[in-house]
Amino acid sequence: MRSLPTRFRRERTRVRHTSHMARRIVTACAAIALTACFSPASFAQSADAAGKAPAFTTKPTWYKDALIYEIYPRSFQDSNGDGIGDLNGITSRLDYLKTLGVDAIWLTPIYPSPQVDFGYDISNYEGIDPQYGTMADFDRLVAEAKKRNIGIIMDLVLNHTSDKHPWFIASKSSKTDPKRNWYVWRDGKAGGTPPDNVPNNWESVFGHSAWQWDAKTQQYYYHRFYIQQPDLNWDNPAVRKAMYDVERFWINRGVVGFRLDAITSLFEDPTFSDEDYVKLPDGSIKINAYGDKEVKTDKTDNLPKVNDVLKELRKTADETKGRKVVLIGETYVSSIADLRRLYGENNDALDLPMDMQVGFINKFDVSEFRKNINDAETGLGGNEPLFVFDNHDNPRWDRYGDGTHNQDIGRMLAAILFASRDTAMMYYGDEIGMVTTPPTSKDQVKDPIGITGWPKEKGRDGERTPMQWNDGPNAGFSKDGVKTWLPIPPSYKTVNVKSEVPDFDSLLNWYKQLIELRRSNATLRDGQQIMLNTDNNDVLMWLRKADGQPAVVVACNFTAQTQKVSFDLSSQGISGKSAKTLMKTPGASDPASLDAVELPAFGVYIGQVQ
Ligand code: GLC
Ligand code: CA
Repeated sequence: MRSLPTRFRRERTRVRHTSHMARRIVTACAAIALTACFSPASFAQSADAAGKAPAFTTKPTWYKDALIYEIYPRSFQDSNGDGIGDLNGITSRLDYLKTLGVDAIWLTPIYPSPQVDFGYDISNYEGIDPQYGTMADFDRLVAEAKKRNIGIIMDLVLNHTSDKHPWFIASKSSKTDPKRNWYVWRDGKAGGTPPDNVPNNWESVFGHSAWQWDAKTQQYYYHRFYIQQPDLNWDNPAVRKAMYDVERFWINRGVVGFRLDAITSLFEDPTFSDEDYVKLPDGSIKINAYGDKEVKTDKTDNLPKVNDVLKELRKTADETKGRKVVLIGETYVSSIADLRRLYGENNDALDLPMDMQVGFINKFDVSEFRKNINDAETGLGGNEPLFVFDNHDNPRWDRYGDGTHNQDIGRMLAAILFASRDTAMMYYGDEIGMVTTPPTSKDQVKDPIGITGWPKEKGRDGERTPMQWNDGPNAGFSKDGVKTWLPIPPSYKTVNVKSEVPDFDSLLNWYKQLIELRRSNATLRDGQQIMLNTDNNDVLMWLRKADGQPAVVVACNFTAQTQKVSFDLSSQGISGKSAKTLMKTPGASDPASLDAVELPAFGVYIGQVQ
């Protein structure tokens, strides 16, 4: 296994803190004006689907200023009382997202699917699963979002299909079927008997062998994820063409981008030789949560050929005239150099490979954050970083909590996300402080890995619970009396939109203010990010700097003690010592000078240098 971070690096215990001194924070906050951030169309439109997307997407760099909000559709809003969220539910909540300041919504898969992996097993790439609605509902969502200047981003699952997809049904029907070579089929090892003579020791991300025996055609097929998710053969030009047509299909319906699922897994090493085992420091082989000897992923992940496909996906996206379709990658890679490569040598591949080094490092440590944020600033060839702290595959932000100051730690993480030079991606419910709520017994588990891995791996249900809209029945997610697909977490009584809206010092209002500040402040939007006071391991401090604009400074206290800091600005050629406070932790006082800024426990200060 490569070094950190790996896919689904799931920290079940809380991230360790250095100290635990309690301190009460009282409240106060600056009001920030809301201003528009997108300039008008900067190049001519031609007659294609451009008309269906929001006007701001005519700006080729729109994604650099954007806030992308991930929605897990099953869990956002149920409109028809079946306990499962749906497209009409999302449409009914667009005004909320508009008020929050969202520019684009990433929808996890809504295509027809047997739902083994809750949509990541697709049986038809050009339809909508009836659980979520109809194509007319989808078109209405796109149109209503556009009215509010919000774009829709689809999740494109290219690595694998469902085993119920007609392509795979044909592929497994016979060794001579024209679709046979659309998937990865191999003979078993000579001399052995199925299912024990797998072609090699490769493992599924979800546990056990990545090979599944097919008795009818007497071969194994490869599946990097569930058995019901056979991998496509990306060496086959017919597969590529079919998927680029899928890309065009959704662009023509007005989507503004794609999140490319498991994109680093498209290719396998053509030798199909065994992987090495992952060793522990004592030399023994690591055993994973599923009880398997863990193998490395050098032969199944991040092969150089991935970039050939990325370039073709890019070309296809760029056929769209008059607007920019953005390509985002699910990219758990282990180094900044690997991340850099995914933008393409000539910046002709992904626009936004997700930077998992910052958000999913899962160490509450100033020097780690400093290093990783600085790597993104200096190691990506000037490309736009995409930061993200939460998604539907990992425990929520409260993994960083200390149990006493979680609210403040939540504020701090949001400040790092929104006051950095990045495209910001967040997960539904972050803004109100929804917490990870894993199942308490095996029979409650919905995510299959939680069943295979129980109790070491409880699955991903805990981060997929229904959105908490209010403190009423079913938290406003579904009608009273309905059994929701996952239980409503007990926290909904206090952690919900309705109660946080009127509370000026709520986490929700902190998010709104940060988002508005970033939108209205040119330095925070685009300015360079320079780490300051780099020998301080209690407080993370940085400068944002843009030509002709006032500089902005930020400090985040990573400890439970009050910290007093002095911004080292002279080394950056800045002589100003006083600052106008842009945002600060509720209750903190305004500093008289940047030489003496007092930060409460886990406190945040953002100021404009005068
Ligand atoms: C991605 C998705 C995850 C899914 C897997 C297989 O990692 O985010 O939810 O299970 O791909 O498609
Ligand atoms: Ca529903």
